Amino acid sequence: MSRRLERSVFGRPEDAGKVMTLEEGMDLLNQWVKNPRLQLHMRQVAHLMKCWAAERLQLSAADQHRWYMAGLLHDADWEKWPDAHCSRIIEELEHRHQDPEIIHAIASHGPHHFGVIPVSAMDKMLYVFDELSGLIHAYSLMRPEGYTGMEVKGVLKRFKEKKFAANVSREEILEACTLAELPLEEVIAFIIPRQAQVA
Ligand SMILES: [Fe+2]
Ligand SMILES: [Fe+2]
Repeated sequence: MSRRLERSVFGRPEDAGKVMTLEEGMDLLNQWVKNPRLQLHMRQVAHLMKCWAAERLQLSAADQHRWYMAGLLHDADWEKWPDAHCSRIIEELEHRHQDPEIIHAIASHGPHHFGVIPVSAMDKMLYVFDELSGLIHAYSLMRPEGYTGMEVKGVLKRFKEKKFAANVSREEILEACTLAELPLEEVIAFIIPRQAQVA
């Protein structure tokens, strides 16, 4: 389903800080991703990335935008080129001379699939949020009240239930939290109210 990238350097240092606009990012997404659920997944992860950059790291508006775009584009090639996920989007971003940190974050969002280890804070948080965001969204869809009243302990229960969202790798989520040095509960508590804003 995915291809190992066989390299660890992405983009060019001189392109640091060069980022497409939100409109350009959405154009790319609309061209490449027709499945509204997959688009929603990317917008949710993007929002979480931006909130983390803003609230936890107090980064500038420009950096918040970089974090947002890493989330927004991380699965952009999944629907059209499942066998080339995520090398196709990396090529596109390199071609457009996008910020190398964004490209590295996308390249390392599935270390067991793409063979690239998350290094930067951006890399690690994309890895942390990706699958966990999906699991929490799946949980919201089975709750009649959606995100309203959702509690960390409810998510943890689903997390431990192997049959629930069975395709979500619990091992990878736990590994991501360890890498980022964050307790799972803390990340879940961060996600719930913010993801509810993009549901
Ligand atoms: Fe992915
Ligand atoms: Fe994803």
